This record gives sequence, C-alpha cells and structure tokens, in this order.
Amino acid sequence: MPTLEIDGRKVEVPDGQTVMQAAERLGIEIPHYCWHPGLSIAGNCRMCLVDIEKSPKLQIACNTRVTEGMVVSTTSEKTRTAQKAVLELLLVNHPIDCPVCDQAGECKLQEYYMDYDRQRSRIALPDKVRKKKAKPIGPLVMLDQERCVLCSRCVRFCDEVTHTSELGFYSRGNHTELDVAPGKSLDNPYSGNVIDVCPVGALTSRDFRFRARVWYLERFDSVCGACANGCNIHIYQREDRIYRFQPRENQAVNQYWMCDAGRLSYHGLQGEGRLGQAFWRTDAGFEPAALPAAVRVAAGKLSDLAAAHGAGAIGILASAQAPNEELHLLRRLATRLEARLAGISWSPPDAYHDDFLIKADKNPNTKGLELQGITTGGGADDLLRDAAEGRLQALVLHRCDLTAWKGDAARAALETVPYLVVLDSDRRETTQFASVALPIGTYAESDGTFTNHAGRVQRFVRAVAPPGDARPGWQLLAQLLAALGGETAVESAARVFDALAAECPPFKGLSWDGLGDDGVLAGAR
Ligand code: SF4
Ligand code: SF4
Ligand code: FES
Repeated sequence: MPTLEIDGRKVEVPDGQTVMQAAERLGIEIPHYCWHPGLSIAGNCRMCLVDIEKSPKLQIACNTRVTEGMVVSTTSEKTRTAQKAVLELLLVNHPIDCPVCDQAGECKLQEYYMDYDRQRSRIALPDKVRKKKAKPIGPLVMLDQERCVLCSRCVRFCDEVTHTSELGFYSRGNHTELDVAPGKSLDNPYSGNVIDVCPVGALTSRDFRFRARVWYLERFDSVCGACANGCNIHIYQREDRIYRFQPRENQAVNQYWMCDAGRLSYHGLQGEGRLGQAFWRTDAGFEPAALPAAVRVAAGKLSDLAAAHGAGAIGILASAQAPNEELHLLRRLATRLEARLAGISWSPPDAYHDDFLIKADKNPNTKGLELQGITTGGGADDLLRDAAEGRLQALVLHRCDLTAWKGDAARAALETVPYLVVLDSDRRETTQFASVALPIGTYAESDGTFTNHAGRVQRFVRAVAPPGDARPGWQLLAQLLAALGGETAVESAARVFDALAAECPPFKGLSWDGLGDDGVLAGAR
C-alpha cells in the first residue's frame, strides 16, 4: 500500500493503482479523454499529463503506477502549459459547432476548454480539415467525424466489451477519422454505450439528439425494468416526460453498461396506451369513474364475495412486473380475502439473451415473486381454468397483460368470471373485460424495489408523476386494503419495504435505507 502526495495532500492506495485513480480518491480532477475505468488504458490523448517530482518529463496519470513517496502536481506551471497545448492540438480541426451540437452541456471539450485553456484559436475556420458530419453508423448512433478527438474509447468498447470490433481509425495525420469498418454497421445489442463513453459530440444518440438540451433535464436513480438483470440506470426527465435512460455504475450488476433494448424501453412507459383514470362497468357500459369511489366499490364487492363464498372464491394473479412492495401488499390482500394467489412471469418464447447482461426473462422481479413464495408454476393456469369453469367468484389481475400472454385460455376465464378487478398501468385487451379498472403508475412513476435474477434487491425512485388519476401501485393497494378495513394506510414505499423485510425471511435484515445505491443481496444477512 504505497503512500503518495498529490497537490500537497497525502493518500495511501492499493498496490498497482495509477496516479489517476489515486487522484480520484482525493477528489482531485485530472482532465482526461481516453481513460475510462471500464476499458483498457490507451494513453493516447495526453490530456492527463502531470508533473511528478524526480521525473524529467511530464507523465500521463492514467498509465503511471503509484510508487512509495511519489510527489505529484496537477497544477504546476509545466502541467498547465501541457494541458493548454493538448487542448489546442485537439481543437485545431474541431468545428466548434457547440451551438448546434447535441453534446453541449456535457462535453469534455467544452468543459476542459473553460477550465484549462481559454485561448483564442490560431487556426482560421476555413483552414480546418473537413470530415463527414451526421453520418448514421447504426440504428442508435450518429457519427460526426469532425468532432472526434480520436480517444479510441468507442473502438475499445467494441473490441473489449462486445468483441464485435465494428469501429476503427482510418487514414493518417490530420485526416485520421473514426468510422465503421467497410460493410459493417454498429448494430450490436449494446451499441448505445459508445454514445455514453464518447467524451465529446462525435457519437450522439439518434433517439435523443435534438429533443432536449441536457441542462433542462433532471436525473433520477433507477433500475431498468426490461429484463431480470436489473441494470442500474439514470432516468432523465423534464416536466414529467422521460427523455432518456443511461447506465449508472454498479460493479455487481452492469458495471458501466446497459443494452439497447433497455435503453429504449422508456418509450413503452409513456404514451398513448396509458391508463390514466379509473373505469367501472355500469348498466350504461364501461365508464370513467372517480378513483376513490372505484377503490371503495371494488373493495366492497370483493369483501362481500369473500364473505358469501368463503375461502378460495377469489383469485389474485400478480405478475413479475410488480415491485416487491406491491407483491407484499397483494399477499396481505390475499390473506384478508382468503383468496388464492398465484404469480405469472411471462416472456416472449424466443426472447434474446446472452451471457453478458441481457436475460431471457424479460421481467424485472421474477426473483422477488419467488422469494415472497408466490408460485409461478401452474398456479396461474389453475386459476384461469377454475375461472373459466365457473369455480371463481372474482379475479384480481395485477400488472397482467393476460390475453397477450395466455390467449384464449385467458379470454375464456375473463368472459366467465363474475367479477374482475384490473390494476394496471396500461389499457389492454384485459381491461375491456374488467368490472373495475384501477390505474397504477409504472416503476418510473413510483418508489420501490426489484429483486434481480441474482437476488440483488435494488431501489428505484419516482422520476416522473403518473398520468391523470393513476397512483403508484403500492399506494393504490394500500388504499384498497384500508377500504377493506382492518389496515391502516401506509404512507411510503419505504415503509412497505421495511414491513416486508420484517416479515418475509429472505428479506430479513434488509431495510429501505440500507439498500443504498447499489442494492443488497437478499438472504445475505
Ligand atoms: S468518436 Fe468519441 S469515443 Fe470514439 S474515438 Fe472519437 S471522441 Fe473517442
Ligand atoms: S440487460 Fe436487461 S436490465 Fe440491463 S439494460 Fe438491458 S433490458 Fe435492462
Ligand atoms: S487520459 Fe491519459 S492519456 Fe488520455
């Protein structure tokens, strides 16, 4: 464990760490382009040059290992001169089109120019080497060759992480340019990560570009709900509209990355199909209803049916799309109504998966269902068969796209069951059969937790408000339970999670606050 000094501050670091990593520990910024913690060291941009005592020349911090007693300056006159020189070189042929560049606001050229350079260009605009602009190189990625600083992060990502090697440098000197290999397209399932690793506006997202200036967006910590891996993400929103998902570092789950399907899955969380108000069936048809009244009516009817027909007269189907908190409250509901409770975890039969991040299970909480003892085996089919054969008095569907998943077996059940309560975020064919439909928010519209395929319980927070009358699922279920009597309403998802942890053995020892930013393995305490 060598000790070194950076800008007069001492720090002890593990053997083998670089000056860059040591500086990060101290919170000292060393500007850099080519270094990325998830990629090999290239050492090509020279932006991280620092002054090391006893070294005759400046050294790159990203590839210089710390030795005992090393004394480093990141602010010496020599370092500052080098930083200016490197920036001037990188900007020689840069188009400086910040006003029309979608990276503006999160561009390392802009930031470092203001922090370390601020000199006028000695190159007249017409003298700059022109290269291709706005060249689509894959379904998700747009390339602007003029803006590229040739750091090779994107090239290394495709070589080292996806092993697909679509990108490379072509030509020499001033004319060196990044491009896709001849005949190739950047269309691997993780292609969007090159947008995140590009420190400048050379690679931008075809999905996001020009839709919002980044300084107007607000960022929230969340977890991708598009498969069982549970990649950690940031949700960027403005005025309750989601504009993009980006990966959030979690070394135990997704390191620095996410897949393209997950990245684009936010589109499915908003838009036309959302259920934004309650409906109930009256003599006049399926009509909009006030949410509190619809909750009261549903609770009253379920309570009456349970009292009249006894245990097992009501079935509850909970899907693996539901967070842990909702599953916990559904279990309470089942107890209160003496209902049969079954789980359903449906994925398309030929769902893409690989041995990196993407799982065939396209549900975020199948493990959560299992850990709460809600079976996903034949229980759902048994319930549907009993409903279709007239042995159930009522069915409660929670986040189930049942007709899409079970086809005619579902339709037969839904047509026959006398009373159907649907809690969902979207209006689906299933909703058309409902006696009462209650609108609930997506995971982006609620606090909560998912348990990923490996048993890691991960927290997400509400990034946007649910549409219309919709409420977070835990809140609506708590209201339903309160309307049934004997339950006091809970006021937060955190409280529900803590109650789950107190009562359900696999979650024992966990707490909402204790989950932290990276989540905790269930059963590990
Ligand atoms: S496109 Fe971006 S990430 Fe790729 S080499 Fe150029 S600057 Fe680096
Ligand atoms: S691998 Fe799964 S959890 Fe990760 S981003 Fe893709 S869909 Fe989302
Ligand atoms: S970050 Fe060190 S040389 Fe590029």
